[in-house]
Amino acid sequence: MRIVIIGAGVAGLATGWRLAQAGAAVTILERGQPGSGATGASAGMLAVTAELLEAGEAETIFARHSNVLWPDFATELEEISGRSIGLSSPGALILASDANGLARLAGHGEGLDAAAVKARFPMLAGGFAGGLWSPNEALVDSRALAAALAIAFVRAGGQLKLNEAVAKIEKPDGRVTGVLTQFGLYPADAVIAANGAWISDLVPGAGIAPVKGQMIALAPPAGEKLPTPVIWGNGIYMLARGGRLLVGATVEDRGFDTSTTEEARRDLRGRAEAVMPSLRRWTLVDHWAGLRPRAPDGLPLLGPTATPGLYVAGGQFRNGILFAPALAENMAGQILGTARMIPAFDPMRKK
Ligand code: GLY
Repeated sequence: MRIVIIGAGVAGLATGWRLAQAGAAVTILERGQPGSGATGASAGMLAVTAELLEAGEAETIFARHSNVLWPDFATELEEISGRSIGLSSPGALILASDANGLARLAGHGEGLDAAAVKARFPMLAGGFAGGLWSPNEALVDSRALAAALAIAFVRAGGQLKLNEAVAKIEKPDGRVTGVLTQFGLYPADAVIAANGAWISDLVPGAGIAPVKGQMIALAPPAGEKLPTPVIWGNGIYMLARGGRLLVGATVEDRGFDTSTTEEARRDLRGRAEAVMPSLRRWTLVDHWAGLRPRAPDGLPLLGPTATPGLYVAGGQFRNGILFAPALAENMAGQILGTARMIPAFDPMRKK
């Protein structure tokens, strides 16, 4: 079976890896480099609690399943690729500024009152009503993840075509027959659009739109330590990666604009300093933006479209990294006939 996947983000690469491992002839077409879209821009959180406090049943089940798959997925990927992807489980502190916020957190983990937060996290500012300690929240280095997946995919026999943009999906009689790029035609029995925020360019009914997220990175002065857990509060999250503190992220409806702005830089930094006052002495060392792919109902799109042979793997919105192992398992299974589509993630549902 010949499969073409469009997009070498975490969804396309992980699905391609699983399909190639199962013996399919898989080509991934990527107009840039592996992970150069939302994957590389992301913080790499496996925020199975913090990002899913208000999620519905289908998304929660999917997220928890993927979280369970993550440790073995990471071990296998590191062994095959020979690359570390930096999986760690530092846990997360989710702060609440008032009683309503505390009520929203109730039942999701170990509740902490204001005094307990201050005692356990003395570097944080006072003034929070309390919080939640979620010990299972984990992290990976999303850029290392994309690089490792690209290696594993190629080692499994996959063909990875970089800097090659898709011009058109061929469907002469209404069924997919291949994908045309500026360099040639790739015949295919199945095509998976996994090109993130740009899916609707190729699958117009998909309804995926970009949601911009800006992040900054701060470096500590000599002698100051990075906080170990992920910290959520005051409208931001903060986490340590590669000796820097990442602070994110804006949630902006700005189309396909990935510019960084002074306004966002000031806002993210100000919010972070209000949570952890010592950050006023830290140096801003990076600032970037990425585009999260979001469907109108916020749920993923994983499965066939109305065009025979054309599939979508997208709409992961804020959870692309967390969802990767389960997404790959489900999408590869759907193509190979070993897994069913999850009805809530039907690309043809009313969104
Ligand atoms: N999951 C983090 C974000 O979307 O900003």
